[in-house]
Amino acid sequence: MRRLLVTGGAGFIGANFVHYLVEDTDARVTVLDKLTYAASPAALEGLPSGRVELVVGDVADAALVDQLVAELGPEGAVVHFAAESHNDNSLRDPAPFVETNIVGTFVVLEAVRRHGVRLHHVSTDEVYGDLALDSPERFTESSPYRPSSPYSASKAGADHLVRAWVRSFDVQATISNCSNNYGPWQHIEKFIPRQITNVLSGTRPRLYGTGENVRDWIHAEDHSAAVWRILTQGQLGQTYLIGADGERTNKDVVQAVLRQCGRDEGDYELVTDRPGHDLRYAIDSTRLRQELGWAPRFTRFEDGLAATIDWYREHEDWWRPHKEAVEAAYAQHGQ
Ligand code: NAD
Ligand code: DAU
Repeated sequence: MRRLLVTGGAGFIGANFVHYLVEDTDARVTVLDKLTYAASPAALEGLPSGRVELVVGDVADAALVDQLVAELGPEGAVVHFAAESHNDNSLRDPAPFVETNIVGTFVVLEAVRRHGVRLHHVSTDEVYGDLALDSPERFTESSPYRPSSPYSASKAGADHLVRAWVRSFDVQATISNCSNNYGPWQHIEKFIPRQITNVLSGTRPRLYGTGENVRDWIHAEDHSAAVWRILTQGQLGQTYLIGADGERTNKDVVQAVLRQCGRDEGDYELVTDRPGHDLRYAIDSTRLRQELGWAPRFTRFEDGLAATIDWYREHEDWWRPHKEAVEAAYAQHGQ
């Protein structure tokens, strides 16, 4: 049985990945998570204790990370999700983004280097900056790094560290850069769950600027399957882009949420734009599909969205206690 250390495994995508590991593999998992405001330990409840253990701690704590990596043994691997992940927060206070995303990744790299352990580093398409709204261009593995926000700059910094540790120290690592995820357990500060929970609360969705910005949506389950495929079959030192051809304008997404909830499609509000707001992301995932044979299961965004709306409807006890504070924080910025 393979041993894995999953950093950030109590967060949205990390927890989804832990479920994937339990259901589809025989891996034994240690989750290292600081349990910040973004974590959902509830997402790990009920998983078999013989398969999943939660260690509460900081990925930037070198002694702790060294001990956990040493315990994995030579057949083990680290999958590194832990990060501060929300762009809007990085614009209000960038400090934790530098500490967790850059220093935390440095700490992980030094531990896997010392113990000769395999690493998969989870990153984002935002490191490539943005694309024009009306262009056919998509990001590829050779797109230049051009991050716009403190969040994406900190993820770009982390990617550069991983690449340098591969080249200079022969660390056995792969990197993935994925597009926008949606699905269960995503924090309600993020776009899709914020709008779903607005509609379920009887308030209007909030679109930044004109609502014309484009994101390329992928279900978190498809991201998890891709990460496993790269970890087990990917070429060491290689970067893989993960995306499911799910480009939509933000307005299209809000209108789909309204429609699926039986509300008028025009019942949204335009609010203050995000400073430096990236226009469009789009992923060309040809390498991942052709070299590793991965393909998404959620090929119709509207079906994945409907399932996600149902999930938030059924898990109001999880999100409701945080809704008022999240909205009050946005209101301070006219959003
Ligand atoms: P999230 O904010 O939902 O979860 C992050 C998790 O990391 C939380 O459980 C949090 O407690 C933990 N964490 C934060 N700081 C920590 C620290 N110092 N030590 C240990 N744990 C810490 O984020 P997410 O959306 O699940 O994103 C996970 C990863 O995937 C991130 O690296 C992110 O950059 C990347 N990613 C996200 C998306 C997306 O659409 N959400 C897309 C591409 C890549
Ligand atoms: O592309 C991958 C990235 O996707 C990840 O690296 C990030 O961790 C993840 O948060 C996400 O970043 P975005 O900034 O694209 O996601 P967010 O959910 O914050 O916003 C999605 C789009 O919706 C973006 O264009 C801003 C807009 N938006 C967001 C909110 C919260 C709105 O119009 N209204 C809102 O209320």
